[in-house]
Amino acid sequence: MEKIIIFDTTLRDGEQSPGASLTSDEKLKIALQLEKLGVDVIEAGFPAASEDDAKAVKKIGEKVKNPVICALSRCKDEDIEIALKSLEKCKKPRLHLFLATSEIHRKYKLKKAKSEIIKLAREKVRFAKKYIDDIEFSPEDASRTEPEFLVEVANTVIEEGAKTINIPDTVGYAIPEEFGALIKYLKENLPENIIISVHCHNDLGLAVANSLTAILNGARQVECTINGIGERAGNASLEEIVMNLKIRKNYFKVKTDINTREIYKTSRLVSSLTGIPVQPNKAIVGENAFRHEAGIHQDGILKHRKTYEIMHPEMVGIKESKLVLGKHSGRHALFDKLEKLGFQLDEKQKEKIFERFKKLAEKKKEITDLDLIVIVEEETMPLVPIYSLEYFHIISGSSTIPSATVRLKKGEEILEDASRGDGPVDALYKAIDRITKLSPVLKEYKITAITGGKDAQGEVTVCLEIDGIKVSGKGVSTDIIEASGKAYINAINYYIAKKNLHKKHYKGT
Ligand code: KIV
Ligand code: ZN
Repeated sequence: MEKIIIFDTTLRDGEQSPGASLTSDEKLKIALQLEKLGVDVIEAGFPAASEDDAKAVKKIGEKVKNPVICALSRCKDEDIEIALKSLEKCKKPRLHLFLATSEIHRKYKLKKAKSEIIKLAREKVRFAKKYIDDIEFSPEDASRTEPEFLVEVANTVIEEGAKTINIPDTVGYAIPEEFGALIKYLKENLPENIIISVHCHNDLGLAVANSLTAILNGARQVECTINGIGERAGNASLEEIVMNLKIRKNYFKVKTDINTREIYKTSRLVSSLTGIPVQPNKAIVGENAFRHEAGIHQDGILKHRKTYEIMHPEMVGIKESKLVLGKHSGRHALFDKLEKLGFQLDEKQKEKIFERFKKLAEKKKEITDLDLIVIVEEETMPLVPIYSLEYFHIISGSSTIPSATVRLKKGEEILEDASRGDGPVDALYKAIDRITKLSPVLKEYKITAITGGKDAQGEVTVCLEIDGIKVSGKGVSTDIIEASGKAYINAINYYIAKKNLHKKHYKGT
């Protein structure tokens, strides 16, 4: 079976999702997990967009060894130079050049004639090829470009040494049949040794369908993101493409090198670090994706799983074992379980997790795998620990004005203040504002139960706007007020870290 190259752009196009912004350390954590997942190419960033993007590409290039590491660049000498510099220490570097080709982009955005586009594409690929062998070229807005012109541009950059031609459906306008026909046309008109790639956006909800149709018509690389995150409605979701190819291999007749058992863990990691929740009914990784509610379905499942289940949750790394651990379990049982869940932890992390586990076991009878995953994520991926919640006390009731006393830790400093509010969470947030001397605007507040039962752990996600900068944060606890406080503080920590980095994002693609 022919192999499909999985090109992950979670750290580049995915990070362009509204509200998502990752530090270079967080990007490295995700890249290391993508390596475990078995992706072939990691698009690590757009180095000319910001210093932090350049730093992230550099770090990832130094530490991640198996996948090809790719950096995005406009067709500009300065961009190319910055991208190449970021890739300097990388074992398998790739430069991804893009230039818009559709009539609407030529006329209004670039103000260039077709001949000028051809000239610019040729010059920049020729320039880059002197320094790097692996070049991918994207004619931006390809799906709205005249097909004959697309072939002309592609053949020009191929002559100069580009090896992969990526066809982006930049604005998510394509329809599967039409997009498939375009890929077939390109396949027939480009040299055989060239890899045709596709990069589909989800504005009409067709990103995965378009990617799969492209594969059926000869595309051999797909660009996608974990959880389908990305600009506007997002990009094609990696887990959906991969599981389609696996579950329906009789139809697609191609394979990937993805270790599907790492999918769920990767999805959780990306969600927790970006602060972008996964919708409950999301295919493959949503919390309802493997739940059967209807009586007839449950009955069928008990009689024979395959009556209503086309894939087993374990295939994507969701382990369903229950009540393995409780308050009488010791270190050995916990660490053994964590190892089975695939976590590699150092002694310090293990001790912290054990403490958290014991505290949770006092409040919650059944500790599930998901409970443990949440604790490990929180402990091993602390966001940006500038402020942390030490203590809080809430007074609330139907005939009292809610008030909160809060104590935060900042380095060695202990800071305390109190406030009233419209409700307990509002009072808590106002007290935190008094301590941090910030005035965040709460744009979004979401609460979900992420583990089962009356004693479930609740996850709160908040989106704040502080001085025009949008940040999000998550907090988890069996106490929703505590989860709310943690989420708020995490978002504030992000804001402070971001401000320190002077991060400016290029949002031009
Ligand atoms: O959507 C798009 O066109 C892109 C390109 C830079 C590949 O993200
Ligand atoms: Zn894109």
